[in-house]
Amino acid sequence: MERKRIVVGVSGGIAAYKACTVVRQLAEAGHSVQVLPTESALRFVGAATFEALSGQPVHTGVFDDVPQVPHVAIGQQADLVVVAPATADLLARAVAGRADDLLTATLLTARCPVLFAPAMHTEMWQHPATRENVSTLRTRGAVVLEPASGRLTGTDTGPGRLPEAEEINTFASLLLERPDALPYDLAGQKVLVTAGGTREPIDPVRFIGNRSSGKQGYAVARVAAQRGAEVTLIAAHTAGLIDPAGVDVVHVSSAQQLQDAVSKHAPEAQVLVMAAAVADFRPARMAQAKIKKGPGEDDRPPTIDLVRNDDVLAGAVRARADGQLPHMRAIVGFAAETGDENGDVLFHARAKLQRKGCDLLVVNAVGEGRAFEVDHNDGWLLAADGTESALEPGSKTLMASRIVDAVVAFLGGGG
Ligand code: CTP
Repeated sequence: MERKRIVVGVSGGIAAYKACTVVRQLAEAGHSVQVLPTESALRFVGAATFEALSGQPVHTGVFDDVPQVPHVAIGQQADLVVVAPATADLLARAVAGRADDLLTATLLTARCPVLFAPAMHTEMWQHPATRENVSTLRTRGAVVLEPASGRLTGTDTGPGRLPEAEEINTFASLLLERPDALPYDLAGQKVLVTAGGTREPIDPVRFIGNRSSGKQGYAVARVAAQRGAEVTLIAAHTAGLIDPAGVDVVHVSSAQQLQDAVSKHAPEAQVLVMAAAVADFRPARMAQAKIKKGPGEDDRPPTIDLVRNDDVLAGAVRARADGQLPHMRAIVGFAAETGDENGDVLFHARAKLQRKGCDLLVVNAVGEGRAFEVDHNDGWLLAADGTESALEPGSKTLMASRIVDAVVAFLGGGG
Protein backbone atom coordinates (compact mmCIF):
# COMPACT_ATOMS: atom_id res chain seq x y z
CA MET A 1 0.00 0.00 0.00
CA GLU A 2 1.28 3.53 -0.75
CA ARG A 3 2.61 5.65 2.10
CA LYS A 4 -0.20 7.54 3.87
CA ARG A 5 -0.27 10.24 6.52
CA ILE A 6 -1.80 8.78 9.66
CA VAL A 7 -2.45 10.65 12.88
CA VAL A 8 -2.62 8.46 15.98
CA GLY A 9 -4.37 10.25 18.84
CA VAL A 10 -3.79 8.78 22.28
CA SER A 11 -5.92 9.74 25.26
CA GLY A 12 -5.26 9.11 28.92
CA GLY A 13 -6.17 5.57 29.87
CA ILE A 14 -4.14 2.57 30.92
CA ALA A 15 -4.55 1.11 27.42
CA ALA A 16 -2.29 3.93 26.16
CA TYR A 17 0.57 1.41 26.32
CA LYS A 18 -1.12 -0.58 23.53
CA ALA A 19 -1.02 2.54 21.34
CA CYS A 20 2.74 1.96 21.13
CA THR A 21 2.11 -1.23 19.13
CA VAL A 22 -0.51 0.52 16.97
CA VAL A 23 2.07 3.22 16.12
CA ARG A 24 4.87 0.77 15.57
CA GLN A 25 2.88 -1.43 13.18
CA LEU A 26 1.63 1.52 11.14
CA ALA A 27 5.16 2.94 10.88
CA GLU A 28 6.56 -0.48 9.94
CA ALA A 29 3.92 -0.71 7.19
CA GLY A 30 5.65 2.34 5.70
CA HIS A 31 3.19 5.07 6.67
CA SER A 32 4.05 8.50 8.02
CA VAL A 33 2.71 8.40 11.57
CA GLN A 34 2.25 11.45 13.78
CA VAL A 35 1.32 10.76 17.38
CA LEU A 36 -0.89 13.28 19.20
CA PRO A 37 -1.16 12.31 22.85
CA THR A 38 -3.26 14.26 25.32
CA GLU A 39 -1.51 15.62 28.42
CA SER A 40 -3.02 12.78 30.45
CA ALA A 41 -1.85 10.14 27.95
CA LEU A 42 1.69 11.30 28.69
CA ARG A 43 1.18 10.30 32.33
CA PHE A 44 0.94 6.69 31.07
CA VAL A 45 3.48 6.68 28.22
CA GLY A 46 6.30 9.18 27.75
CA ALA A 47 6.64 11.39 24.66
CA ALA A 48 10.07 9.86 23.97
CA THR A 49 8.48 6.44 23.39
CA PHE A 50 6.04 7.81 20.82
CA GLU A 51 8.79 9.88 19.17
CA ALA A 52 11.06 6.86 18.88
CA LEU A 53 8.31 4.61 17.48
CA SER A 54 6.94 7.16 14.99
CA GLY A 55 10.21 8.91 14.13
CA GLN A 56 8.43 12.26 14.50
CA PRO A 57 8.33 14.89 17.25
CA VAL A 58 5.37 14.74 19.62
CA HIS A 59 3.40 17.79 20.79
CA THR A 60 0.26 18.07 22.85
CA GLY A 61 -0.61 21.77 22.91
CA VAL A 62 -1.82 24.22 20.27
CA PHE A 63 0.97 26.70 21.13
CA ASP A 64 3.87 24.51 19.99
CA ASP A 65 5.37 25.27 16.59
CA VAL A 66 2.89 28.12 16.01
CA PRO A 67 4.31 29.33 12.63
CA GLN A 68 3.45 25.91 11.12
CA VAL A 69 -0.20 26.25 12.32
CA PRO A 70 -0.19 22.59 13.35
CA HIS A 71 -3.59 22.71 15.05
CA VAL A 72 -5.12 23.16 11.59
CA ALA A 73 -2.53 21.66 9.25
CA ILE A 74 -2.20 18.21 10.84
CA GLY A 75 -5.90 17.45 10.48
CA GLN A 76 -6.16 18.96 7.01
CA GLN A 77 -3.29 16.87 5.67
CA ALA A 78 -4.15 13.54 7.30
CA ASP A 79 -5.38 10.54 5.29
CA LEU A 80 -6.66 8.86 8.45
CA VAL A 81 -6.99 9.69 12.15
CA VAL A 82 -6.95 6.79 14.63
CA VAL A 83 -7.69 7.54 18.29
CA ALA A 84 -6.54 4.63 20.45
CA PRO A 85 -7.43 4.47 23.23
CA ALA A 86 -10.37 6.86 23.13
CA THR A 87 -11.43 7.49 26.72
CA ALA A 88 -14.95 8.52 27.77
CA ASP A 89 -13.61 12.04 28.28
CA LEU A 90 -12.03 12.21 24.82
CA LEU A 91 -15.28 11.02 23.18
CA ALA A 92 -17.22 13.68 25.11
CA ARG A 93 -14.77 16.39 24.06
CA ALA A 94 -14.94 15.25 20.43
CA VAL A 95 -18.74 15.39 20.49
CA ALA A 96 -18.67 18.87 22.04
CA GLY A 97 -16.30 20.09 19.34
CA ARG A 98 -13.72 21.20 21.89
CA ALA A 99 -10.34 22.31 20.61
CA ASP A 100 -8.36 22.77 23.79
CA ASP A 101 -5.45 20.55 22.81
CA LEU A 102 -3.76 19.49 19.60
CA LEU A 103 -5.68 16.22 19.33
CA THR A 104 -9.18 17.71 19.66
CA ALA A 105 -8.23 20.63 17.37
CA THR A 106 -7.08 18.06 14.81
CA LEU A 107 -10.37 16.16 15.11
CA LEU A 108 -12.16 19.39 14.15
CA THR A 109 -10.09 20.04 11.05
CA ALA A 110 -9.75 16.46 9.77
CA ARG A 111 -11.90 15.64 6.74
CA CYS A 112 -10.49 12.12 6.32
CA PRO A 113 -11.93 8.98 7.97
CA VAL A 114 -11.69 9.05 11.78
CA LEU A 115 -11.48 5.78 13.73
CA PHE A 116 -12.06 5.83 17.49
CA ALA A 117 -11.05 2.75 19.48
CA PRO A 118 -12.68 3.29 22.88
CA ALA A 119 -11.32 1.78 26.07
CA MET A 120 -12.78 2.39 29.50
CA HIS A 121 -14.46 0.65 32.40
CA THR A 122 -17.72 -1.14 31.55
CA GLU A 123 -19.80 1.27 33.66
CA MET A 124 -18.40 4.24 31.75
CA TRP A 125 -18.93 2.51 28.37
CA GLN A 126 -22.53 1.69 29.24
CA HIS A 127 -23.39 5.09 30.77
CA PRO A 128 -26.11 6.91 28.80
CA ALA A 129 -23.77 9.88 28.32
CA THR A 130 -21.18 7.71 26.58
CA ARG A 131 -23.85 5.79 24.62
CA GLU A 132 -25.16 9.10 23.31
CA ASN A 133 -21.70 10.39 22.49
CA VAL A 134 -20.83 7.22 20.59
CA SER A 135 -24.08 7.38 18.67
CA THR A 136 -23.54 11.08 17.83
CA LEU A 137 -20.03 10.40 16.53
CA ARG A 138 -21.34 7.53 14.39
CA THR A 139 -24.14 9.73 13.01
CA ARG A 140 -21.50 12.27 12.05
CA GLY A 141 -19.67 9.60 10.07
CA ALA A 142 -16.88 8.61 12.44
CA VAL A 143 -16.16 4.93 13.02
CA VAL A 144 -16.36 4.07 16.71
CA LEU A 145 -15.17 0.51 17.30
CA GLU A 146 -16.90 -1.83 19.71
CA PRO A 147 -14.48 -2.55 22.54
CA ALA A 148 -13.46 -6.10 23.31
CA SER A 149 -14.70 -7.88 26.42
CA GLY A 150 -12.25 -9.14 28.96
CA ARG A 151 -9.90 -8.12 31.70
CA LEU A 152 -9.89 -4.37 32.52
CA THR A 153 -7.71 -2.48 34.96
CA GLY A 154 -7.62 -4.15 38.36
CA THR A 155 -9.72 -7.28 38.68
CA ASP A 156 -12.78 -6.10 36.69
CA THR A 157 -13.87 -7.80 33.48
CA GLY A 158 -16.48 -6.80 30.88
CA PRO A 159 -16.81 -4.82 27.65
CA GLY A 160 -14.41 -1.89 27.57
CA ARG A 161 -11.08 -3.42 26.65
CA LEU A 162 -9.10 -1.87 23.84
CA PRO A 163 -9.05 -4.31 20.89
CA GLU A 164 -5.62 -5.71 20.09
CA ALA A 165 -3.36 -3.45 18.02
CA GLU A 166 -3.55 -5.88 15.06
CA GLU A 167 -7.31 -5.56 15.05
CA ILE A 168 -7.30 -1.75 15.25
CA ASN A 169 -4.81 -1.65 12.40
CA THR A 170 -6.90 -4.06 10.34
CA PHE A 171 -9.69 -1.48 10.46
CA ALA A 172 -7.22 1.36 9.82
CA SER A 173 -5.98 -0.41 6.67
CA LEU A 174 -9.55 -1.08 5.59
CA LEU A 175 -10.44 2.63 5.87
CA LEU A 176 -7.34 3.52 3.84
CA GLU A 177 -8.39 1.00 1.16
CA ARG A 178 -12.01 2.08 1.27
CA PRO A 179 -12.98 5.14 3.39
CA ASP A 180 -16.70 4.25 3.47
CA ALA A 181 -16.23 0.58 4.38
CA LEU A 182 -17.69 0.77 7.89
CA PRO A 183 -21.09 2.52 7.90
CA TYR A 184 -23.19 1.75 10.98
CA ASP A 185 -25.94 0.04 8.97
CA LEU A 186 -26.52 -3.35 10.62
CA ALA A 187 -27.77 -2.21 14.01
CA GLY A 188 -30.46 -4.51 15.39
CA GLN A 189 -29.54 -7.43 13.09
CA LYS A 190 -28.35 -10.77 14.45
CA VAL A 191 -25.71 -12.27 12.20
CA LEU A 192 -24.40 -15.83 12.52
CA VAL A 193 -21.04 -16.52 10.86
CA THR A 194 -19.16 -19.81 10.60
CA ALA A 195 -15.43 -19.84 9.89
CA GLY A 196 -12.36 -22.05 9.85
CA GLY A 197 -11.87 -25.68 8.95
CA THR A 198 -13.45 -28.64 10.72
CA ARG A 199 -11.47 -31.63 11.96
CA GLU A 200 -12.92 -35.12 11.72
CA PRO A 201 -11.27 -37.42 14.25
CA ILE A 202 -9.68 -40.67 13.06
CA ASP A 203 -8.27 -41.67 16.45
CA PRO A 204 -7.29 -39.70 19.57
CA VAL A 205 -4.32 -38.07 17.81
CA ARG A 206 -5.25 -37.89 14.11
CA PHE A 207 -7.89 -36.14 12.11
CA ILE A 208 -8.99 -35.29 8.60
CA GLY A 209 -8.71 -31.52 8.21
CA ASN A 210 -8.37 -28.89 5.54
CA ARG A 211 -6.36 -25.77 4.72
CA SER A 212 -8.95 -23.14 5.65
CA SER A 213 -7.32 -20.38 7.72
CA GLY A 214 -10.61 -18.87 8.87
CA LYS A 215 -9.44 -15.40 7.82
CA GLN A 216 -12.32 -14.61 5.48
CA GLY A 217 -15.04 -15.67 7.91
CA TYR A 218 -13.36 -13.86 10.81
CA ALA A 219 -13.17 -10.73 8.65
CA VAL A 220 -16.91 -10.94 7.88
CA ALA A 221 -17.72 -11.35 11.59
CA ARG A 222 -15.43 -8.46 12.51
CA VAL A 223 -16.82 -6.08 9.88
CA ALA A 224 -20.47 -7.01 10.56
CA ALA A 225 -19.99 -6.37 14.30
CA GLN A 226 -18.43 -2.97 13.69
CA ARG A 227 -21.30 -2.13 11.35
CA GLY A 228 -23.66 -2.62 14.30
CA ALA A 229 -24.75 -6.27 14.07
CA GLU A 230 -24.97 -8.60 17.05
CA VAL A 231 -22.61 -11.27 15.77
CA THR A 232 -22.12 -14.88 16.85
CA LEU A 233 -19.08 -16.50 15.27
CA ILE A 234 -18.96 -20.29 15.20
CA ALA A 235 -15.25 -20.84 14.87
CA ALA A 236 -13.76 -24.15 13.80
CA HIS A 237 -9.96 -24.44 13.50
CA THR A 238 -8.05 -21.39 12.29
CA ALA A 239 -4.50 -20.25 11.82
CA GLY A 240 -4.39 -18.95 15.42
CA LEU A 241 -6.65 -15.95 14.75
CA ILE A 242 -7.61 -13.65 17.61
CA ASP A 243 -11.29 -13.51 18.56
CA PRO A 244 -12.83 -10.41 16.94
CA ALA A 245 -13.74 -7.63 19.38
CA GLY A 246 -17.44 -7.25 20.11
CA VAL A 247 -18.27 -10.71 18.74
CA ASP A 248 -19.63 -13.70 20.65
CA VAL A 249 -17.32 -16.58 19.68
CA VAL A 250 -18.32 -20.27 19.98
CA HIS A 251 -15.37 -22.60 19.37
CA VAL A 252 -16.08 -25.97 17.74
CA SER A 253 -13.98 -28.69 16.17
CA SER A 254 -15.88 -31.24 14.04
CA ALA A 255 -18.53 -30.76 11.36
CA GLN A 256 -21.09 -32.29 13.72
CA GLN A 257 -20.28 -29.77 16.46
CA LEU A 258 -20.45 -26.95 13.94
CA GLN A 259 -23.82 -28.18 12.73
CA ASP A 260 -25.13 -28.41 16.31
CA ALA A 261 -23.97 -24.85 17.03
CA VAL A 262 -25.63 -23.55 13.84
CA SER A 263 -28.87 -25.36 14.75
CA LYS A 264 -28.77 -23.75 18.19
CA HIS A 265 -28.11 -20.17 17.05
CA ALA A 266 -29.80 -19.96 13.61
CA PRO A 267 -33.39 -19.65 14.91
CA GLU A 268 -32.52 -16.23 16.38
CA ALA A 269 -30.51 -14.94 13.43
CA GLN A 270 -31.52 -12.75 10.51
CA VAL A 271 -28.37 -13.54 8.53
CA LEU A 272 -26.28 -16.72 8.18
CA VAL A 273 -22.84 -16.53 6.55
CA MET A 274 -21.37 -20.01 5.98
CA ALA A 275 -17.69 -19.26 5.45
CA ALA A 276 -16.47 -22.40 7.24
CA ALA A 277 -14.80 -25.19 5.32
CA VAL A 278 -16.96 -28.03 6.56
CA ALA A 279 -15.68 -31.54 5.88
CA ASP A 280 -17.97 -33.41 3.50
CA PHE A 281 -16.97 -36.77 5.00
CA ARG A 282 -15.92 -38.11 8.40
CA PRO A 283 -14.49 -41.45 9.48
CA ALA A 284 -17.39 -43.79 10.14
CA ARG A 285 -15.88 -44.66 13.53
CA MET A 286 -13.31 -42.91 15.63
CA ALA A 287 -10.81 -45.46 16.97
CA GLN A 288 -10.71 -45.22 20.76
CA ALA A 289 -7.00 -46.03 20.86
CA LYS A 290 -4.23 -44.74 18.64
CA ILE A 291 -4.04 -46.77 15.43
CA LYS A 292 -0.68 -48.57 15.26
CA LYS A 293 1.15 -49.15 12.02
CA GLY A 294 2.00 -52.70 13.03
CA PRO A 295 5.38 -54.32 13.61
CA GLY A 296 6.01 -55.82 10.17
CA GLU A 297 7.15 -54.03 6.99
CA ASP A 298 4.37 -55.79 5.06
CA ASP A 299 1.49 -55.05 7.45
CA ARG A 300 -1.39 -53.64 5.43
CA PRO A 301 -2.24 -50.01 6.16
CA PRO A 302 -5.61 -49.63 7.86
CA THR A 303 -8.65 -48.70 5.78
CA ILE A 304 -10.64 -45.73 7.00
CA ASP A 305 -14.30 -45.92 6.03
CA LEU A 306 -15.89 -42.54 5.46
CA VAL A 307 -19.50 -41.47 5.82
CA ARG A 308 -21.07 -38.24 4.57
CA ASN A 309 -21.59 -35.26 6.83
CA ASP A 310 -24.81 -33.29 6.48
CA ASP A 311 -24.61 -30.17 4.36
CA VAL A 312 -25.15 -27.45 6.96
CA LEU A 313 -25.82 -24.71 4.41
CA ALA A 314 -28.37 -26.71 2.45
CA GLY A 315 -29.91 -27.78 5.78
CA ALA A 316 -30.38 -24.14 6.81
CA VAL A 317 -32.02 -23.34 3.46
CA ARG A 318 -34.43 -26.27 3.98
CA ALA A 319 -35.13 -25.33 7.60
CA ARG A 320 -36.04 -21.80 6.51
CA ALA A 321 -38.36 -23.15 3.80
CA ASP A 322 -40.00 -25.35 6.47
CA GLY A 323 -40.62 -22.30 8.67
CA GLN A 324 -38.09 -23.33 11.36
CA LEU A 325 -35.98 -20.16 11.01
CA PRO A 326 -38.61 -17.46 11.35
CA HIS A 327 -36.17 -14.53 11.42
CA MET A 328 -33.74 -15.71 8.75
CA ARG A 329 -33.66 -13.30 5.80
CA ALA A 330 -30.29 -13.81 4.13
CA ILE A 331 -28.29 -17.03 3.76
CA VAL A 332 -24.82 -16.65 2.28
CA GLY A 333 -22.71 -19.56 1.05
CA PHE A 334 -19.10 -19.73 -0.05
CA ALA A 335 -17.63 -21.68 -2.90
CA ALA A 336 -13.97 -22.37 -3.53
CA GLU A 337 -13.75 -23.55 -7.10
CA THR A 338 -11.28 -24.47 -9.80
CA GLY A 339 -12.19 -24.77 -13.45
CA ASP A 340 -11.99 -28.22 -15.09
CA GLU A 341 -12.85 -29.89 -18.39
CA ASN A 342 -16.57 -29.45 -17.69
CA GLY A 343 -16.50 -25.69 -17.22
CA ASP A 344 -14.81 -22.64 -15.67
CA VAL A 345 -15.03 -21.38 -12.08
CA LEU A 346 -18.24 -19.42 -12.69
CA PHE A 347 -19.91 -22.36 -14.41
CA HIS A 348 -19.37 -24.53 -11.33
CA ALA A 349 -20.32 -21.67 -8.99
CA ARG A 350 -23.65 -21.06 -10.74
CA ALA A 351 -24.46 -24.76 -10.44
CA LYS A 352 -23.54 -24.68 -6.73
CA LEU A 353 -25.79 -21.67 -6.08
CA GLN A 354 -28.68 -23.59 -7.65
CA ARG A 355 -27.86 -26.77 -5.76
CA LYS A 356 -27.48 -25.15 -2.34
CA GLY A 357 -30.41 -22.76 -2.73
CA CYS A 358 -28.80 -19.94 -0.74
CA ASP A 359 -29.50 -16.24 -1.44
CA LEU A 360 -25.92 -15.16 -2.10
CA LEU A 361 -22.81 -17.13 -3.01
CA VAL A 362 -19.28 -15.78 -2.57
CA VAL A 363 -17.04 -17.42 -5.14
CA ASN A 364 -13.26 -17.70 -4.92
CA ALA A 365 -11.02 -19.21 -7.54
CA VAL A 366 -8.56 -21.50 -5.75
CA GLY A 367 -5.27 -23.17 -6.62
CA GLU A 368 -1.79 -21.73 -7.19
CA GLY A 369 -1.59 -19.97 -3.82
CA ARG A 370 -4.97 -18.26 -4.13
CA ALA A 371 -7.62 -17.88 -1.43
CA PHE A 372 -6.35 -20.34 1.19
CA GLU A 373 -3.98 -19.15 3.94
CA VAL A 374 -3.31 -15.80 2.26
CA ASP A 375 -4.41 -12.30 3.25
CA HIS A 376 -5.68 -11.29 -0.16
CA ASN A 377 -8.60 -12.53 -2.14
CA ASP A 378 -10.76 -11.79 -5.14
CA GLY A 379 -13.79 -13.41 -6.66
CA TRP A 380 -17.43 -12.98 -7.54
CA LEU A 381 -20.70 -12.53 -5.76
CA LEU A 382 -23.62 -14.41 -7.26
CA ALA A 383 -27.20 -13.76 -6.16
CA ALA A 384 -30.15 -16.12 -6.48
CA ASP A 385 -31.89 -13.56 -8.73
CA GLY A 386 -29.13 -14.03 -11.32
CA THR A 387 -27.12 -10.87 -10.61
CA GLU A 388 -23.37 -11.39 -10.65
CA SER A 389 -20.68 -8.93 -9.60
CA ALA A 390 -16.92 -9.13 -9.43
CA LEU A 391 -15.22 -8.67 -6.06
CA GLU A 392 -12.14 -6.62 -6.85
CA PRO A 393 -8.84 -7.90 -5.45
CA GLY A 394 -7.99 -6.63 -1.99
CA SER A 395 -7.53 -7.67 1.59
CA LYS A 396 -9.88 -10.25 3.07
CA THR A 397 -11.21 -7.41 5.25
CA LEU A 398 -12.03 -5.37 2.14
CA MET A 399 -13.70 -8.44 0.67
CA ALA A 400 -15.67 -8.82 3.92
CA SER A 401 -16.90 -5.24 3.63
CA ARG A 402 -18.12 -5.96 0.07
CA ILE A 403 -19.85 -9.13 1.23
CA VAL A 404 -21.54 -7.24 4.08
CA ASP A 405 -22.60 -4.54 1.56
CA ALA A 406 -24.29 -7.24 -0.51
CA VAL A 407 -26.07 -8.57 2.59
CA VAL A 408 -27.25 -5.07 3.54
CA ALA A 409 -28.49 -4.46 -0.03
CA PHE A 410 -30.25 -7.85 -0.01
CA LEU A 411 -31.96 -7.07 3.34
CA GLY A 412 -32.91 -3.59 2.08
CA GLY A 413 -34.38 -5.11 -1.05
CA GLY A 414 -36.84 -7.07 1.09
CA GLY A 415 -34.74 -10.25 1.18
N1 CTP B 1 -20.94 -26.52 3.46
C1 CTP B 1 -21.78 -26.91 4.48
N2 CTP B 1 -21.77 -28.19 4.94
C2 CTP B 1 -20.96 -29.11 4.36
C3 CTP B 1 -20.10 -28.73 3.30
C4 CTP B 1 -20.12 -27.43 2.87
O1 CTP B 1 -22.53 -26.09 4.98
N3 CTP B 1 -20.98 -30.36 4.83
C5 CTP B 1 -21.00 -25.12 2.98
C6 CTP B 1 -19.72 -24.34 3.12
O2 CTP B 1 -19.67 -23.66 4.36
C7 CTP B 1 -19.82 -23.35 1.96
C8 CTP B 1 -20.59 -24.11 0.92
O3 CTP B 1 -21.26 -25.17 1.62
O4 CTP B 1 -20.58 -22.21 2.30
C9 CTP B 1 -19.80 -24.68 -0.22
O5 CTP B 1 -18.95 -25.67 0.18
P1 CTP B 1 -18.20 -26.63 -0.85
O6 CTP B 1 -17.42 -27.60 -0.07
O7 CTP B 1 -17.50 -25.81 -1.85
O8 CTP B 1 -19.43 -27.30 -1.54
P2 CTP B 1 -19.76 -28.78 -1.80
O9 CTP B 1 -21.24 -28.90 -1.80
O10 CTP B 1 -19.00 -29.65 -0.89
O11 CTP B 1 -19.31 -28.95 -3.30
P3 CTP B 1 -18.09 -29.72 -3.95
O12 CTP B 1 -18.74 -30.75 -4.73
O13 CTP B 1 -17.44 -28.64 -4.78
O14 CTP B 1 -17.21 -30.22 -2.85
